[in-house]
Amino acid sequence: MPEVPSYRIFASSQSASKALAEDISQLIRSRDSEERTTVLGLATGNTPVQLYKELIRMHRDGLSFRNVVTFNLDEYIGIDREHPESYWQFMHSHLFNHIDINPENIHIPEGMVAADNIESHCSAYENQIEEAGGIDLQVLGIGRNGHIGFNEPGVSPDVATHATELNQVTINDAAEAFGGAADVPQRAITMGVKTILGAQRIALLAFGSSKADIVERALTSGITSEVPATYLQSHNDTTFFLDQDAGKRLS
Ligand code: PGA
Repeated sequence: MPEVPSYRIFASSQSASKALAEDISQLIRSRDSEERTTVLGLATGNTPVQLYKELIRMHRDGLSFRNVVTFNLDEYIGIDREHPESYWQFMHSHLFNHIDINPENIHIPEGMVAADNIESHCSAYENQIEEAGGIDLQVLGIGRNGHIGFNEPGVSPDVATHATELNQVTINDAAEAFGGAADVPQRAITMGVKTILGAQRIALLAFGSSKADIVERALTSGITSEVPATYLQSHNDTTFFLDQDAGKRLS
């Protein structure tokens, strides 16, 4: 039987972000003490911004990311790293430029990979995750359509890192940042549901009332490809970190 992910409702998005940052710092410190690296799966979007701020603050207070390896969930196809909306830019400006991570330990799918090389790029990404020892903790957001990474409604749970078309809801939600829906990339490379479910532990962050309905569906409707986040019900160590608004439909 699938186990429904557990969820925690915090007084604010800030306290939820702090709690997850605390978990991440404990994980890093405990693996450091065993002389092992920590492998983090990371997400972009508005939701994890406070988490990254908190990790930067912890770094200033002595937390080192020297032995941390990261894999990001996804990247748009067709925009280069320097593009202001690339996830490469996002991660560097919101986190990597402010911590002591070794640049060689940062992995983000490459948005400008030639069409013929996308498949090999995706399988290389999977190999890198495996060679790193697998993901210890994967951070996720959730789209209003239930996507995790760019695993859009209809996706199979058996697919690893792959190229995908973006769903219209996703394009509309990104339109403002790109100055109009017409300028939002139509495709992206994303870790698959299979990759995500391969993480030891998963922490999904969701804040604000615009996420309340989808959070409720993710946790309470049966597993369905129409809401990719329901696949998390088949993972045995997933926690949703919610603020009051995102958790308001849960009893
Ligand atoms: P958001 O995006 O954090 O900007 O709401 C979440 C997502 O689409 O996964």
